[in-house]
Amino acid sequence: MRNLVEIYLYFALIVVTTSDKKVTDKSWWQTASFYQIYPRSFKDSDGDGIGDIKGITQQLSYLKEIGIDATWLSPVFKSPMADFGYDVADFTEIDPIFGTMADFDELMEKSKEIGVKIILDFVPNHTSDEHEWFIKSVQNDTEYADYYVWHPGKVTENGTRIPPTNWISVFRGSMWTWNENRQAYYLHQFHYKQPDLNYYNPKVREAMKDVLRFWVRKGVAGFRIDAVPHIYEVAPDSDGNWPDEPRNYWENDLEDYNSLQHIYTKDQPETLEMVYEFREVMNELDEELGGYQHIILSEAYTDIDILMQYYGNTTVDGAHIPFNFELLSNLKSWSDANHYSQLIHNWLDSMPAGRTANWVLGNHDQSRIGTRLGWERIDMINVMLKTLPGASITYQGEEIGMTDVWISWENTVDPQGCQSSMQEYERLSRDPARTPFQWNDEHQAGFTDGNTTWLPLHANYKTLNLKRERGISFSHLNIYKQLQKLRREKAMRYGETDVMAFNRNVLAIKRYLSGERTFIVLLNINDDYEAVNPKAAFIDLTDKLEYILTTDKSIRQKGDRVSSDYIELLSKEAVILATI
Ligand code: GLC
Ligand code: MG
Repeated sequence: MRNLVEIYLYFALIVVTTSDKKVTDKSWWQTASFYQIYPRSFKDSDGDGIGDIKGITQQLSYLKEIGIDATWLSPVFKSPMADFGYDVADFTEIDPIFGTMADFDELMEKSKEIGVKIILDFVPNHTSDEHEWFIKSVQNDTEYADYYVWHPGKVTENGTRIPPTNWISVFRGSMWTWNENRQAYYLHQFHYKQPDLNYYNPKVREAMKDVLRFWVRKGVAGFRIDAVPHIYEVAPDSDGNWPDEPRNYWENDLEDYNSLQHIYTKDQPETLEMVYEFREVMNELDEELGGYQHIILSEAYTDIDILMQYYGNTTVDGAHIPFNFELLSNLKSWSDANHYSQLIHNWLDSMPAGRTANWVLGNHDQSRIGTRLGWERIDMINVMLKTLPGASITYQGEEIGMTDVWISWENTVDPQGCQSSMQEYERLSRDPARTPFQWNDEHQAGFTDGNTTWLPLHANYKTLNLKRERGISFSHLNIYKQLQKLRREKAMRYGETDVMAFNRNVLAIKRYLSGERTFIVLLNINDDYEAVNPKAAFIDLTDKLEYILTTDKSIRQKGDRVSSDYIELLSKEAVILATI
């Protein structure tokens, strides 16, 4: 008898562990909280007014405090900083502004101790014009001559030389710049100091894969891959020429990137193949190093059907996390709940089977959430970001509700702003979202000991800063921290998701997993008072629900109970409830 019971228990255990494993059988990144650090503006350790690697190392415990699994750093590599590091002069050296390789190694060591993974920014599309490869390419060095895209240009009837195509760069003006030494034009999809690499050259592809190998062997967990859609241009014809791109007649300014349809310079099929090859390198490194999966997060502002192909298909894997910019690019301050729901569904319903969702609400190229969608929606957006399934990505400062800083034309430094005009720069400059992190209300907001900062601090730092928010129970920071705790709940991590608009104003997210309590997330997006009935909308809800998270907009408190068929929501209120 005793044996039988033991045998029974033994099998019961196997069943429980295997079924448990099935649900929770996810790799670290699939439910991770990612945090983007813009190193110039995070923390300055040496008083020059520019953030650096030592600064990041000093603040690693802060990332732990807010529950971050991995942080991706905008470029810290050697660079003349024409695009603040996105113009890389040496892919395997640290720029002195950010520190030394020893500083980087120390960062790796400390991050391992603390348990926060480090992800680097990989910029495959272009190098700096000060990169050794480009300097040698200019000299027509046999090894490097074809590392970049060169063309002698066209000669018009009256004998003037003009660029080979009408292509316009992302940062305005021709995509071609004349080089006196080589007597040819070179292609640059971005700034003229960012010449595009020639990916039809297999040596280039291999050299760039070696960059990935170098850093992974140093211990990084993966890469955010920059400007992916721009990697390839259409292949030249047999005479070495390219076609012009057709006009977009809604944009009259012929120097503006939007004036052309980028059918030959963006989203070429070869680019997808390249992403799959980068993934293959990651897979090889996983095998070589063991431990855990090394990942790629790909940056592409492009159509959703192309983004879905970045994931890979049934025969090949692609990016683990193709950034989901649906909400970032399309939500407006006037969006209603149907719009929110539609944008969320766009991603969830298009994802190929077995892939992982991700949600990006901000980055160093975009206006901050509080400025873009209104400061009253800061908590609501974080609630949504943290309760949707899969990986969440937060841009530094969004967890404390930092907003954009207005910067005068004279003080503008972003090339995208500087290459426009005094009339246009405010629409284009990315400086406003890149200002220093607001650590406290002391000297320079605790960002630097120096007397200057490379971009101005926000005037509100005396009241809006990390130190102060630590002490306020309903601060953005403390809401964010609570959300991070909630993310550890099994239903949030591994559960199913239903998303719907209850009406024009209220968005509802249900997260559920059998055997676990169900969570109901409600966002009242606008200013009207609302009363909703989740019980009627969602099956299997208990008669009562308990408040799990409230914000400063709520009159209810955490722990309060309420009937699941009648829930009142005040203006811009976001709450999380759970079944009992
Ligand atoms: C990406 C980066 C942006 C940079 C551009 C060129 O879009 O996020 O900051 O300017 O690529 O590298
Ligand atoms: Mg510094």
